[in-house]
Amino acid sequence: MYEHDVIVVGGGGAGLRAAIAAHEAGADAAIVSKLHPVRSHTGAAEGGINAALHPDDAVADHAYETMKGADYLADAPAVETFASEIPEEVVRLEHWGTVFSREEDGRISQRPFGGMEFPRTAYAGAETGHHVLHAMYEQAVKRGIDVYDEWYVMDLAVTDEDDPTDRRCHGVVAYEIRTGEIAGFRADGGVVLATGGIGQVYEHTTNAVSNTGDGAALAYRAGVPMEDMEFVQFHPTTLPSTGVLITEGVRGEGGILYNAAGERFMFERGYANNAGELASRDVVSRAELTEVEEGRGIEDEYVHLDMRHLGEERIRDRLENILHLAEDFEGADALAEPIPVKPGAHYAMGGIETNEHGETCVDGLYAAGECACVSMHGANRLGGNSLAELLVFGKRAGRHAAGEDLGEPAIDTGRRGSHETAESDLPVELGTTDAAAGSRGRDDGSVASDGGSVVSDAETVLERAVDAARSRVEELLNRDGRVHHASVRKQVQETMGRHVNVFRETDGLAEALRTIREARRSYDDVAVNDSSSTYNTDLIQTIETRNVLDIAEAVAAGAYARREFRGAHWRAAHRERDDEAWLKHTMLSWNDGEPELWYRSVELEGDDRCYEPTERSY
Ligand code: FUM
Repeated sequence: MYEHDVIVVGGGGAGLRAAIAAHEAGADAAIVSKLHPVRSHTGAAEGGINAALHPDDAVADHAYETMKGADYLADAPAVETFASEIPEEVVRLEHWGTVFSREEDGRISQRPFGGMEFPRTAYAGAETGHHVLHAMYEQAVKRGIDVYDEWYVMDLAVTDEDDPTDRRCHGVVAYEIRTGEIAGFRADGGVVLATGGIGQVYEHTTNAVSNTGDGAALAYRAGVPMEDMEFVQFHPTTLPSTGVLITEGVRGEGGILYNAAGERFMFERGYANNAGELASRDVVSRAELTEVEEGRGIEDEYVHLDMRHLGEERIRDRLENILHLAEDFEGADALAEPIPVKPGAHYAMGGIETNEHGETCVDGLYAAGECACVSMHGANRLGGNSLAELLVFGKRAGRHAAGEDLGEPAIDTGRRGSHETAESDLPVELGTTDAAAGSRGRDDGSVASDGGSVVSDAETVLERAVDAARSRVEELLNRDGRVHHASVRKQVQETMGRHVNVFRETDGLAEALRTIREARRSYDDVAVNDSSSTYNTDLIQTIETRNVLDIAEAVAAGAYARREFRGAHWRAAHRERDDEAWLKHTMLSWNDGEPELWYRSVELEGDDRCYEPTERSY
């Protein structure tokens, strides 16, 4: 058993920031991650970090534009905390050695990004995440923070009182990918989940193959609500054949979108008469797909992003990485021709419900970064607000887990405060299948077991969780299943791509839920082909696939239930935002394998102002 004050799960941007903050608050912090930190998906972030740094910019404008971008589904206390703390975080990153692009006078360069009226996005070429990740990893190494890399966290060690708000998280159980060892990691202060995105529930995604929603699924099964999972961002400019991201920075620098007829459709077809290509992402993605659906796409699939007019010198100075990505992954010479682009799944606005200190409703369990929902992105995130979010809320979660007093939170978690029970008319049951429900016990090692334990003493809770994980691995390696995880994952990804995409229809969403249910049944019969204990990626991917199933189902269920059009969530049968009925957060709580849907009101009242929803146009 390993023991630290604070265990951070995930070594990307949010995890590193949380670990550094916990360390600086005096805690013995350690990172447990299935990847080496510098291989984390944060390294793929390109465009930049939003912060009101310039004397002519204002924190209040950043907060307002974030709320508007969110289509008013964000909580004002989180948004205001974020906008006011991010400038200091960017300066700190600079002091830590992040090589930001610079203006002639030495100031950090900032470029325009979608949905904002001020050039607020600080950047390092078109590889900002890479530089941020490396700078923070160096800071973690400098402080001597322990990193258990290539340890895959299989479960949380959580007590199992009936009410999740009475539970306590004492640590995690992890599997060492190099050796097959399974060990407990006790956290005396807190566990911070910082496991990133859920992109692998889709086939066409900007996300790394490692983004399987692990942290979100672990928290969900331990009783923490998933919030607003139906809101998935589809980035407008991804390469058609791979999903590789072409940064919004291209449009920020002046890149133009054209349809097959050579029309600058964002203006010429009236999608966004003021902001054009720099409307928010949900608007641009819908516009592109409308062009394709109405026969004005190229090869019936994509549109063109042209940056040739920017000139080679400016492109090489600010967007050089894009030249390489377009060439290497699509065979396009972006200096000589436009880049083919189409929308791809990019970011989960929803996630593990937290308050502005990163706390979940389970004592000692925190979440930060993309896996969390604080909620500041609401129904649509602004580009450049994701690296920014992980800095602010990674720091806050780390500090709080280390015991710092951050004051009384303004945001409720769990079923505290006012909430509304939903009349669910979902077309299928959610959660574990009948076959799995029979073996739902806490410590039987079944593939469907929840995260908890029947005892509350920390050591025993950890030991039981370790025993359950060992049994589970043993069982997976020795069972006589007939299904391979890859076919289950493919089934889920295909239905999500077809039915839970940019445009959503009631029948399609029902179909997706039914297919996920079938995939769950298939998973009951899953087998691992490789029985070795050294780098058994077959085993890891089998376990990850369980998480993909739970998370895909949460996304589809939230989407089916929400009968309105808000931000990234478009419904064919409900084409208007409906504040009267739907200005509320979707919550999905997993109890004993049976998820339950409920709603919580949105907090529009901030310290600075009340963000009354108005019509959102760009
Ligand atoms: O387009 C981009 O560079 C992505 C940025 C973001 O998602 O924040």
